[in-house]
Amino acid sequence: MIKLTIDGIEVEVEPGTTILNAARKIGGEIVPPAMCYYSKLKGSGGKCRTCIVKVAQGSAKDPRPMPKPVASCSTPVQEGMVVLNITSPELLEARKGVVEMLLINHPLDCPICDQAGECDLQNLAYEHGVAKTRYEEPRRTFEKIDIGPNIQLHMTRCILCYRCVQTADQITDNRVHGVLGRGDTAEIGTYIANAIDNDFSGNMIDVCPVGALTDKTFRFKSRVWYVDPMDAHRNCQKCSGKVALWMHGKTEIYRVTGRKDEFGEVDEFICNECRFEKKDINDWTIEGPRKINKTSVISQNHYVLKAPPHRINLNSVEMVSKQILTEGKE
Ligand code: SF4
Ligand code: FES
Repeated sequence: MIKLTIDGIEVEVEPGTTILNAARKIGGEIVPPAMCYYSKLKGSGGKCRTCIVKVAQGSAKDPRPMPKPVASCSTPVQEGMVVLNITSPELLEARKGVVEMLLINHPLDCPICDQAGECDLQNLAYEHGVAKTRYEEPRRTFEKIDIGPNIQLHMTRCILCYRCVQTADQITDNRVHGVLGRGDTAEIGTYIANAIDNDFSGNMIDVCPVGALTDKTFRFKSRVWYVDPMDAHRNCQKCSGKVALWMHGKTEIYRVTGRKDEFGEVDEFICNECRFEKKDINDWTIEGPRKINKTSVISQNHYVLKAPPHRINLNSVEMVSKQILTEGKE
């Protein structure tokens, strides 16, 4: 086993583990964000650079620091390595730069994007972004394309993470799309306008970190924080049948997705029949509400616990409201 520290926390992992997975073993805030790496997809990672970390000591044998931030999703750990993520202001500044680059060609259409509330880029921009853009050139824009009966591609929002390409490659038997072109002309496209239509194609929607691939059966139906996520299952011949139902009221199913873990990755890929065709509550056995991280926007309106009275400081509430009123007037 190999010992290293990440943000001062010691962890022991198997040789060959990446820094990102070592951080995931610790969990919590020190885990770097990942927009292109996906543990269930072979060969993913190394494209977006959001997972960069600072290596302050390469290893016990060679304690020199690495000269530049490294992609934690594709850098293996070394014995005695010292890694800094949220404890390095320098690194956070560098990540801010990565986010700025990702946002150069990304439209700020979160108010009308179906991915809003569960979008990795939105979260990143919220945590590391700057309010203003320095970019003055025209942005890339594309027409929306229907790729098959259930999926819409909004290329303008794509960050070229390749996850959907790897999903199609590795869990469907017939990939008909890929990244076409190079550099600033690169785009996701299908060959000769093929429709993406096979039993597992819907998983591309779940792996897309932004709103570039969306579910046409859910588009514009509801903001994600107004629906209630439930764990449910059914007997399915094609997949495990274990899904998350996004419910409106007690009986209406607005959307079916895979169940995502704390790192935003699905536990198991699900088939298109479960995802797009089973929208009747009688098709499913409901297991109960999904546990959603309290800080997620999806949790809004879903808190079940009331804050104990001693935790509410009325003076500070008053102070904040006064501040908002003053700022409003300015
Ligand atoms: S469409 Fe989504 S999943 Fe596919 S490359 Fe673009 S951002 Fe990644
Ligand atoms: S997650 Fe590591 S480069 Fe994208």
